[in-house]
Amino acid sequence: MARLPIRLFPDPVLRVRCAEVSVFDADLEQLVADMTETMHAAPGIGLAAPQVGIEQRVALVDLSVGKEPEDLHVLINPRIVESDGSGVEPEGCLSIPDFTEKVSRPTHLRLEFQDLQGTTQELEADDWLARAICHELDHLDGVLFVDHLRGLRREKAKRALRKMLKEAR
Ligand code: NI
Repeated sequence: MARLPIRLFPDPVLRVRCAEVSVFDADLEQLVADMTETMHAAPGIGLAAPQVGIEQRVALVDLSVGKEPEDLHVLINPRIVESDGSGVEPEGCLSIPDFTEKVSRPTHLRLEFQDLQGTTQELEADDWLARAICHELDHLDGVLFVDHLRGLRREKAKRALRKMLKEAR
């Protein structure tokens, strides 16, 4: 396994609409193993493939950050089939360090995805798990949590992003 460098805003790979995974092979397994190590080391509760520069629909969520093996969700080609409720809680992102802001997300989701073997699976998620899944799935479409902010929260985010832009130059 290897830790991968995490891409930071304004890296353009964070704005790509990622491609469906069609080959379920040893390379995919390796990518997921490396992403898992990278997420746990960060530490983070979620990581999407574009955040390590890979434009494929692969996302990980692990609210236990490696403490509970059954909490690790490997979501390949994930698709939300049902969502309801809404809750507002603070969110952050490994690609936008040192910035958190409250975001509205559904509080319940039903999800379809494929596992490492390519088998279709279903998952129901509530509250923080639902929130983390929404955040990671957004990444697969080039959407960042700051894109959901409005009003004063959006102004705060803009300032933080402008600072990152300057530092990246
Ligand atoms: Ni993120």
